[in-house]
Amino acid sequence: MAAGARALHAAFDGAPHVVAYAVKANSAGPVVKALAAEGCGADVVSGPELGLALACGISPDAIVYSGVAKTDAELDLALAAGPRGIAAIQIESVEEVARVAARARTSGRTARVSLRINPALDADVIDTHAHIATGHDEAKFGVAQADVTRALDAIARAPELSLEGLTVHAGSQLTATDAYVVAARTLFDLARSLRARHPLRFVDTGGGFGIDYGAGCPVEPADFVRAVRAEQKRAGLEDLILFVEPGRSLVAAHGVLVAATLQAKVTRGRRWLLVDAGMNDLLRPALYQARHRIVPWSAPAHPEAEWSVVGPVCESSDDFGVHVLAEAPPDGVAILDAGAYGYTMASRYNGRALPAEVFVRDGGVIAVAARRPESDWIDDRLASSVASARS
Ligand code: LLP
Repeated sequence: MAAGARALHAAFDGAPHVVAYAVKANSAGPVVKALAAEGCGADVVSGPELGLALACGISPDAIVYSGVAKTDAELDLALAAGPRGIAAIQIESVEEVARVAARARTSGRTARVSLRINPALDADVIDTHAHIATGHDEAKFGVAQADVTRALDAIARAPELSLEGLTVHAGSQLTATDAYVVAARTLFDLARSLRARHPLRFVDTGGGFGIDYGAGCPVEPADFVRAVRAEQKRAGLEDLILFVEPGRSLVAAHGVLVAATLQAKVTRGRRWLLVDAGMNDLLRPALYQARHRIVPWSAPAHPEAEWSVVGPVCESSDDFGVHVLAEAPPDGVAILDAGAYGYTMASRYNGRALPAEVFVRDGGVIAVAARRPESDWIDDRLASSVASARS
């Protein structure tokens, strides 16, 4: 993880920048603290994520807050952080301008903001699953091209707001730099035209750097940075701080989901390996038809049999796909590349406990977050019925 962060920093060649780690990918304290120690900032999307980033020692000056719908309490938290609030609340609609201004007025602070534009990319240009492509016209994210002038005018009219930067995010799990660069170019064009009237401090080209889940990924995270820096230079914006918001690429490969075999089921010529981890622990295969590589706990002498690896959850989509393993069922498997959007998207569906987390560095365990007892779930469910009976 540290090496990944260092490789990204190096790609900036000493130019002013912030690697704002997208906390949503993996919010475990040891992970966020390790990235903070490597000089990363944070991209957050909720009050709790903001509170966590601050608690992990990330400077408010290196935190940006994205998201289409922020509560007043969340805006207040962003405004109250540090001596001047966070680096930027990323405004995602014309309507949000007045809301942020009102909270700034109430808190007696100037809100540092950036405008997140929707780059209106052709959905086919964004080479990823439809659910994680954000930079197209049909997405809820960012200010549409047609509304950008209106949003900028509204910001200019609000004395409580200071426009610090412009932001864009094309999508996630991009396995080529093209869409990222096209989105950045749209952003830089706007920044160039705006600068004559308005000083800017940063441009933020978002996250989305893809990783190799087994089917290959020809580009490295640093390639995105290098490609976008070349555009930034071409646009004459070299003096602006460049923010990027990687999540997955910093953490995915560093986490595995470990599952024990509960049972094998062989029927009608098909082998099912029923394991004790399910879609509640790792939702990506069910939600995005994502494929994660799976390896047995001990390497089989002859991987020769196809197994459908599935979990215990009562859903057909609780299915990790067909994998070639030994004929004899393994005692358990490791599901690879689960370090991003694994635990953070886990749920207690079917009354299942959230997974335990074990943190390893240099071959040794440095921290363990134990699994909560399953009875916690029963207590929680009962508590809600007691509360409603009282009210
Ligand atoms: N910045 C913004 C504004 C974002 O919306 C996202 C991700 C990121 C940065 C970080 O993107 P990354 O570098 O991690 O690709 N749950 C899905 C991914 C959802 C991504 C949402 N936004 C998955 O498991 O593939």
